[in-house]
Amino acid sequence: MPRQTVLKPTAIFVGSLIALFVCALALVPAILPAQKSAPHDALTQAGSSASSSTQQPTPLDFEIYRARVEPIFLKQRPGHARCYGCHILSNRALHLETLAPGAENWTLEQSKRNFQSVRWLVVPGDPYSSPLLVHPLAPEAGGDAFHSGGRQFASQNDSDWLEMSDWVRGPRSGVALDGKPFSGARIYVTNSAGNTIDVIDAATNKVVQVIRGIELPHGIGFSPDGARVYVSNESESVLDVVDRKTCEVLHKVALSGRPNNLAVTKEGGRVLVGIRSDPGVVDVIDTTSLRRVKSISVDGSAHNVYVTPDGKYAVSGSIEDKAATIIDLQAEQAVGEVKFDRGVRPMAFERNPDGSTARIFVQLSGFNGFAVVDFGKRAEVARINLPDQPGGFGIAEGRTGTPSHGIGVAPDGKSLWVNSTFANAVFKYLLPDLHLAGYVTLPLVHPLGPVPTGAVPEWITFTPDSAVVYISNSGAASVSAIDARTMKPIAEIPVGEVPKRISSLALP
Ligand code: HEC
Repeated sequence: MPRQTVLKPTAIFVGSLIALFVCALALVPAILPAQKSAPHDALTQAGSSASSSTQQPTPLDFEIYRARVEPIFLKQRPGHARCYGCHILSNRALHLETLAPGAENWTLEQSKRNFQSVRWLVVPGDPYSSPLLVHPLAPEAGGDAFHSGGRQFASQNDSDWLEMSDWVRGPRSGVALDGKPFSGARIYVTNSAGNTIDVIDAATNKVVQVIRGIELPHGIGFSPDGARVYVSNESESVLDVVDRKTCEVLHKVALSGRPNNLAVTKEGGRVLVGIRSDPGVVDVIDTTSLRRVKSISVDGSAHNVYVTPDGKYAVSGSIEDKAATIIDLQAEQAVGEVKFDRGVRPMAFERNPDGSTARIFVQLSGFNGFAVVDFGKRAEVARINLPDQPGGFGIAEGRTGTPSHGIGVAPDGKSLWVNSTFANAVFKYLLPDLHLAGYVTLPLVHPLGPVPTGAVPEWITFTPDSAVVYISNSGAASVSAIDARTMKPIAEIPVGEVPKRISSLALP
């Protein structure tokens, strides 16, 4: 099977550095005054986005550079030679000053000279166009094909790489590169084996923000106004309340046990968090008082929890008890359930024309397909097997327990998308008749190995206009963006460790 075209973040190869120099030199008159008048303060450099006078320059902060970025050049990073070792040579574009004998750090004057060298290798606001970030990054993480200094950063979630990219992105003011406030959609993906959440701009398919400091992030949701991001945090058994613009964790709400997934009610007044520890409850968090106000008993330890599209019910699923529990959100208590012969995994909801829930599509443990539940009847009415072909994946990856994980109804209600680990693909069904429209293959991991392995897709989300489907590839440490209409991959976006829950936010 050929490897799919991977559209990497724009990588500037060393050869094109010359072009960058020429372009940057043209801006020198604009830069010099800032340097003269404020050499100690935040120096502003006009990057590639500053060609029009209406656009705001993004500041490149010298103090942050000196405190957070420069030490990386001197740091002994396990398995790597230090940047300093090679980049003190005068013929390097990234040219670092030689330390005084016995000195462990650069003097302020030396740091300023280093900064002048480094800034040419950075496009403010855009890490992916900055050679400083892209050149030493591993190719499979979106970096350049070759760096004589090696793959210094294996992933975009390397903490040193994140320090550099935070600095290059500049203050998280919610202002895009063109100076306009952000609009459009953001795709949030929790890196389940890491401590970061990547935020992808759906317009450019690049990571534009990284939420840091939440170890084992699980579920993710938003306040209806987009001001807050809610994250269930498995390492601390709390709900983290994050400011969307600054990415700062504002509050930690104690939960009754170790959480799994979460859902936000339609009006935003409650966050419902599935608690994985026994006996099985869904915690109810009031978003005004930021307190747990109730724990609703459900059948079995709760894995995923959803709010129906009309906002009237929540549905939680249990792997252990093989049950989906239906919760009335007015009464905040369980009012029914559907039992299965297998553990309940992700679900997706189909609306009736009046907005009420028509059917639930339910993925099950050990089943390469999904069950169809009539919501009114509270009963399973059909079970759909995914096609056998393509196939051959999932065994080397050790994922036979979850052959199909990740399912979603597009916001326009016209299609159902179902991941298959066995097929290393996502299948598209048309609604309401569940006619199979086709499939899109997902990236390979170790494409040149004796047995190429699959991406182990996990979760699905869509842009609000239903035009693009996003899939988290947990084994490939990436997110696939797929054109929903043409069923062609648009981009593969490198993200952090074992990306899972993925959710999209329409910005105001
Ligand atoms: C073993 C030596 C070595 C080490 C260690 C090394 N580099 Fe390099 N680097 C080079 C060489 C040589 C080049 C020239 C182009 C090439 O071959 O990649 C280069 C090129 C670069 C470039 C492109 C600009 C230029 O100077 O040509 C950047 C940016 C860069 N390195 C960053 C880093 C960073 C950041 C580190 C540490 C995290 C690092 N390098 C570690 C040898 C090294």
